[in-house]
Amino acid sequence: MSALRLGIIGCGIMGSNHQAVFDSLKGTIEVTATVDIDIEKANAAKEILNAEFATTDYREIWPYVDAVLIATPHDLHHEQGMAAFTHGKHVLMEKPMAISEAECIDLINVSERSQKTLMVAYPMRYQPLVVKLKELLDKKYLGEVFHVGIFTEQLTQPPADSWMVQAKRLGGGQFFSHGCHYIDLLLWFLGEPEVGVHLGTRNQTEWMEKEGTSDAIIKFANGALGHHFGTWGARATRHGYAIHAHCERGMLEADITGGTLYAHHGFKGTPPAGGIGGTLSPDPKDAEVILAMEGESKYLQGELEHFAHCIATGEKPLTDGPGSLAGLRVIWAMTENEEKNAFADLRGMGLPQ
Ligand SMILES: NC(=O)c1ccc[n+]([C@@H]2O[C@H](COP(=O)([O-])OP(=O)(O)OC[C@H]3O[C@@H](n4cnc5c(N)ncnc54)[C@H](O)[C@@H]3O)[C@@H](O)[C@H]2O)c1
Repeated sequence: MSALRLGIIGCGIMGSNHQAVFDSLKGTIEVTATVDIDIEKANAAKEILNAEFATTDYREIWPYVDAVLIATPHDLHHEQGMAAFTHGKHVLMEKPMAISEAECIDLINVSERSQKTLMVAYPMRYQPLVVKLKELLDKKYLGEVFHVGIFTEQLTQPPADSWMVQAKRLGGGQFFSHGCHYIDLLLWFLGEPEVGVHLGTRNQTEWMEKEGTSDAIIKFANGALGHHFGTWGARATRHGYAIHAHCERGMLEADITGGTLYAHHGFKGTPPAGGIGGTLSPDPKDAEVILAMEGESKYLQGELEHFAHCIATGEKPLTDGPGSLAGLRVIWAMTENEEKNAFADLRGMGLPQ
């Protein structure tokens, strides 16, 4: 089978991140065209990836490609995605799919009509520690889960004229732009959402037009709580990126930054005496190491392999258009209700089965 000919539209930070993994995908995916309104970036990517063609205008690449990776500012996703499907190309869309519900529905409909794959780049879904954590939750390795907390703490201060600080181009603030990965994960882990609340702040991230720090809490139909705390204002951090899943018999910890998945087993039977008010826990040093991995690049590789596999087999991507829209609807409902100081009714907004 010949390799998928891929065009990259947008050779900025994310376009460059993807470049690092293409070497290991030789034979499966070949980058044949690179696009950026900054021709230097398009040419640099062309050189590194040994592509055939570089341009500033994405409308010139159709003869060179079977599929495109769209890694441009969020307000361009709809226009560029629609054009790709109209020309019979498959699309791997960087998250978030688009900046409004109507735009997302358009993309889903045109991909279905043209029978081309629409996959949204939620690489966390392909991250080995996260995949294993999901497997352990599903098989109740430590019993029923009652709380999943996701921490993403980083310092992200784009230049003042960047599209990333502008609410209109970003589609909102940190919650929409970055939280979309983690609302998607919470829906994947915990099932049907019932009610949710989001609060965000610009405090200490005044470079953002909307919030740079956000707390989102969702209660699910199974009684579990899901929480994402995300900030682009962390001057220091202990967690970096981490997921803590509290279960009946202990806690699963995905230390994404450190590259390790732990199972912290609770005491069997009655905990030993000595805890204050029953707060005694086993020593974290005694945790079971379930999986350890190096580096973070693998999950982009897994994501791209999945995209190529879905195109070759006609399989539905794990992170397809309708699933991605479900997570965005949850975010929009929570954001609208935040403005009214209200809880969001999220019933019926889970991932499509
Ligand atoms: N999956 C992840 O974890 C992750 C991480 C970072 C960014 N992203 C996503 O990747 C996408 C790009 O983000 P980024 O951080 O790389 O931004 P960036 O600003 O670094 O890159 C965007 C690039 O698009 C180019 N561009 C702008 N208008 C264009 C046009 N009309 N045609 C062609 N190129 C154009 C810009 O010149 C720039 O090089 C966004 O959707 C973002 O949310 C995803």
